Amino acid sequence: MSFAFPTEVVAEGGVKVVVPKLRAFLKKPSDYAPSKAPVFYNPMMEVNRDLAVLALQTFHQLVGRMLRVCEPLAGCGIRGVRLATEVDGVGKVILNDISSEAFRLTKFNIKKNGLVKKVLIENEDANLLLSRFAAPRKRFDYVDIDPFGSPMPYVDSAIRATRSSGMFALTATDLAPLCGVHPRACVRKYGGKPLRTGYCHELAIRLLAGALAKSAAIHDVGINVLFSYSSKHYIRLYATVDYGAKEADTSLKNLGFVIHCFSCILRNVLP
Ligand SMILES: C[S@@+](CC[C@H](N)C(=O)[O-])C[C@H]1O[C@@H](n2cnc3c(N)ncnc32)[C@H](O)[C@@H]1O
Repeated sequence: MSFAFPTEVVAEGGVKVVVPKLRAFLKKPSDYAPSKAPVFYNPMMEVNRDLAVLALQTFHQLVGRMLRVCEPLAGCGIRGVRLATEVDGVGKVILNDISSEAFRLTKFNIKKNGLVKKVLIENEDANLLLSRFAAPRKRFDYVDIDPFGSPMPYVDSAIRATRSSGMFALTATDLAPLCGVHPRACVRKYGGKPLRTGYCHELAIRLLAGALAKSAAIHDVGINVLFSYSSKHYIRLYATVDYGAKEADTSLKNLGFVIHCFSCILRNVLP
């Protein structure tokens, strides 16, 4: 298959995939190559994808059932192809991207890795795709939201498309709002006020977890954060989902406030 832009083959984890040749899209040294290429691929997120493989493998060991997986913002497909290849216990993977070029490249990478029977690729808006699977017995065991910027536009449909006792993962790269550089944007997107402190990355994760708990509670769903971290330009959070009003109330009870004095750096937590 040929593509209308320069490509190259890269090896990552247990797979080899075709990706845009990023060097070909750099016009000046300050350019950020992944956002210049016609299909998104970021080699700097390899550790993020490695940890997704490990987290899903561990989740499979915990729940002991075959997993149905969805990555609705798949880019060149490298994450989904890795999950399908490297994680034991993945039965079906549905990938999706709104870009028709990403769709074509992912389709090629699925075939190249011998995954045609296991991995499907769709080409529509992520919220539409997730909403089509937001019904009992259609929901996924694992949904991975790895967007540009904030994951919040996809959180409602991701929760609805994750089955009870399923897991989902969110990446947020909009650290300027979450770490207090643009506080009003943080209030709009996450419903909480950020603080520009030395521990702002931890607060960013807590703001994301709080927004998630509030979005899930609307549907009488509780969330349980299993694993979270901050790295480079992003934060990442893995949470399980439990359907039930009591579970939602328990998540909401875990929300609170941080007070921080910018003169003496005293900080405290209030329920
Ligand atoms: C950060 S990239 C995904 C990277 C990929 N998850 C990985 O691990 O390499 C975000 C992707 O979301 C796609 N996208 C943006 N808006 C979308 C939408 N509303 N629905 C589906 N895909 C969308 C973009 O085309 C882009 O490929």
